Amino acid sequence: MGAGMKTSTDPIGLLTGRVAAVMGGAGGMGLATSAALLAEGASVLIGDVQVSAGEVAAREFAASCGGRVVFQPVDVARTEQVQAAIDGAVQIWGGLDILVNIVGINIVKPVEQTTEEDFARVVETNLRGTFAAIRAAVPHLRRRGGGSILSIGSVHGDLGFGDHVLYTMTKAGLNGMTKELAFTLGPDRIRVNVIAPGYLATHKGAKEMARTIRPDALDEFWRDWADLYPVGYAFTQPLRRACQGEDVAHLAVFLASDRARFLTGEVIHLDGGLSISMFQSPGRKDYVEARQECEARWKAWYQAHKRT
Ligand SMILES: NC(=O)c1ccc[n+]([C@@H]2O[C@H](COP(=O)([O-])OP(=O)(O)OC[C@H]3O[C@@H](n4cnc5c(N)ncnc54)[C@H](O)[C@@H]3O)[C@@H](O)[C@H]2O)c1
Repeated sequence: MGAGMKTSTDPIGLLTGRVAAVMGGAGGMGLATSAALLAEGASVLIGDVQVSAGEVAAREFAASCGGRVVFQPVDVARTEQVQAAIDGAVQIWGGLDILVNIVGINIVKPVEQTTEEDFARVVETNLRGTFAAIRAAVPHLRRRGGGSILSIGSVHGDLGFGDHVLYTMTKAGLNGMTKELAFTLGPDRIRVNVIAPGYLATHKGAKEMARTIRPDALDEFWRDWADLYPVGYAFTQPLRRACQGEDVAHLAVFLASDRARFLTGEVIHLDGGLSISMFQSPGRKDYVEARQECEARWKAWYQAHKRT
């Protein structure tokens, strides 16, 4: 961004009066998305398998949003729980306008070691769970005269990586489900889209790393390094950082709002340019140098601040 350019992501009430259900809304990008939908004025049902995290999130959000938030324990692999959560939002607030499907799991294994159980678990969670939520939501969205369905895919939906066959096939399936349903539901003014992130700063790896860092250096680690971690991966994205939960949340708000009223059937890559990069590892000298320089700074910082 050029010097002097201003940016603002302050909420402006884009979703005032809308009702949303967020499956997987209690952690990571789901939590950021729940927060953003609430901040824009929506009422939000957070469905998640992590009960304590969901309850804490709902309690904290309620302090500023009052009765506009509820938590409902849901395992998306359990169709009846998904249906109950979606219907619950309608019972509380009188309708549904927005469905966000965050949940997606991954089992990384060579194809010949992938079991029937692995296959069933990933398909049930990533595809059947999302399908169940959409099927439960559609009649409610139709009754409102339209709405927005949004699912989190991945760059893996289009690209090979190695040992990610279950993940890749389910994310590709999600893209297909989205395009087919966007076509079918368009006349009902129900829009269906996918956000496909690239490398994400989930902080899972960073949390592991944090255990090896001196307590007095932890604030600096979280401030300066956690969003870049692992440093090498983040630098394969031309914007040279990992995707953050807030990046997903901003796009989710836009797609849920009337500002995206003519946008449907799209798989939007939210990857800092990863998927348009040849081999996703740009060979340009400035990339290589910047990445090496960052990795060297990280190594030096880590040596100076790791626990002994
Ligand atoms: N992590 C990445 O680098 C990355 C990159 C691209 C896309 N994605 C996709 O983004 C989405 C979120 O990924 P994440 O890494 O933030 O996930 P996560 O593991 O943090 O899970 C997100 C939320 O879903 C909940 N959840 C997990 N299984 C559930 C289930 N069966 N029922 C209900 N809730 C469940 C979790 O408790 C959590 O609150 C997924 O669809 C994932 O495939 C992730």
